[in-house]
Amino acid sequence: MNEGMGLKIAGFLIILGFIHSQATLNPKTYDYEVKEANFTRLCKNKTILTVNGEFPGPTIYARRGDTLVVNVYNKGNLGITIHWHGVKQPRYPWSDGPEFITQCPIQPGANFSQKIILSDEEGTIWWHAHSDWSRATVHGLIVIWPKVGRPYPFPKPYVEYPIILAEWWRQDVEAVLLDFMKTGGDPNTSDALTVNGQPGDLYPCSSSETTKFILEHGKTYMLRMVNAAMNLFLFFGIAGHEITVVGTDGAYTKPLKSHYGVISPGQSIDVLFKADQPIGQYYFAARPYNSQPAISFDNTTTTAIFEYKGYKNSSSKPAFPHLPKVNDTGASVNFTGSFRSLASRAHPIDVPMKITRNFLYTISINTLPCPGNTCLGPRGLRFAASVNNITFDPKSISILNAYYGRINGVYGDDFPRFPPELFNFTSSNISRSLETPLNSTEVQVLNYGDTVQLVIQGTNVVAGIDHPMHLHGHSFYVVGWGLGNYNKSRDPLNFNLVDPPLQQTIAVPKNGWTAIRFKADNPGVWLMHCHLERHISWGMETVFITKNGVGAGESLLPPPPDMPPCT
Ligand code: C2O
Ligand code: CU
Repeated sequence: MNEGMGLKIAGFLIILGFIHSQATLNPKTYDYEVKEANFTRLCKNKTILTVNGEFPGPTIYARRGDTLVVNVYNKGNLGITIHWHGVKQPRYPWSDGPEFITQCPIQPGANFSQKIILSDEEGTIWWHAHSDWSRATVHGLIVIWPKVGRPYPFPKPYVEYPIILAEWWRQDVEAVLLDFMKTGGDPNTSDALTVNGQPGDLYPCSSSETTKFILEHGKTYMLRMVNAAMNLFLFFGIAGHEITVVGTDGAYTKPLKSHYGVISPGQSIDVLFKADQPIGQYYFAARPYNSQPAISFDNTTTTAIFEYKGYKNSSSKPAFPHLPKVNDTGASVNFTGSFRSLASRAHPIDVPMKITRNFLYTISINTLPCPGNTCLGPRGLRFAASVNNITFDPKSISILNAYYGRINGVYGDDFPRFPPELFNFTSSNISRSLETPLNSTEVQVLNYGDTVQLVIQGTNVVAGIDHPMHLHGHSFYVVGWGLGNYNKSRDPLNFNLVDPPLQQTIAVPKNGWTAIRFKADNPGVWLMHCHLERHISWGMETVFITKNGVGAGESLLPPPPDMPPCT
């Protein structure tokens, strides 16, 4: 190639770049009609809430740094909100979505035009409803490619396939919610797990519609996976094929090879695998990881089929992957604990080294008294859950409205920095007097630019279990984790400050702890919660408010004119 040709190509690329930046001036727009639609699964027809009649919902495609607009029309019969899980929405919490935290629900018949403001996210994240339990069926992927002309930090896969894992109930999902909130017990377990909306071969009336992916021998494929299940961690794997994790929660990771994976509710994982096995059919399978034997759960297995081109029908069943045992905490924490950031020149990291704010938050399952001890929780009590012994109690006006409009009496700024009572958090006999939480609407206020270290400590109050903790508006570095109680003099010595993974959802191990660090550089009101839906319903959520910094560039943007009103 001579120089003149190089110039021509460069000129062409500049034009392409120009077209692209023109395109970003008119943001890509999606219309989301939230409405009921008919689906048949497990031999039974029912209506579910959907976006545009699809389950799972439509995929959003974007490039790093894009801003998109989604016009949400509520054609359903309940108020609803939509959250863009993993999108930081810099200075713009108005579109974040959690009901009564950043907005009031979009009422039936109303609409709300939401912005998705991407910044450094790259990879796979997702969107879902963030009101009641509607996210069970109202969810979908967000695929974020690199900027035009920028490569992946791994060889380009031949094809990218989505894998959206979810749970299906025969019953109406809203009824499941109303029922367990009334009885005070556990929610009814789901009846099936699904891959891209289909339960797969191991369930009744499902085989003919099993999700199928075609492979060409010798090619490398990418799976963009998200766990949209309401209440289940999932082990997964592909028979006969090794997977390589290359990203999680919209950030790249160092390649991590494994024969199985585990994915938390809320988490997304990008994996590569090579179609290097004999021509045939191979199962992808996912089934629960559950560390708490006292709870009942949907212990079924969903499957999809990877079929090589050239495969001739035969009567033999596809091969099945080896997955860890359902209660194998070691397999879960080893996989999740092996993620590392790229920490390369093209993908540098920025771990806060000087910490200005230190927090220790305990996360617990609790009980509340129940009239006549007739509830279905332990000993006739009602289940609750808490952060630092506070069950979050949202009001019918959003915290963001109250903060921005300086409305008093909606929330307080007294959220405890440390557990109000110190005890052996992970002991196997914890006094029952420690089971009752406080109900309140306190938030943690951060100054712009604060560097935060937050240790999240799981407890064995009532019953220990892994909790997938998710923070809105930020990614955080997972600098350490361990089993048992966090030791503030010993454990920090082992923190990984060199290449910790950058995540938005992290499974705090059963009766263990996780340490995260982030910079409070996003003014707004940001929810943090467990992504097990029943635990959110029981109040395992808390809020950070990051105040404005100096000047317009560090301050909240004004609210959009069509914010759903709080009635
Ligand atoms: Cu996946 Cu609060 O969200
Ligand atoms: Cu939880």
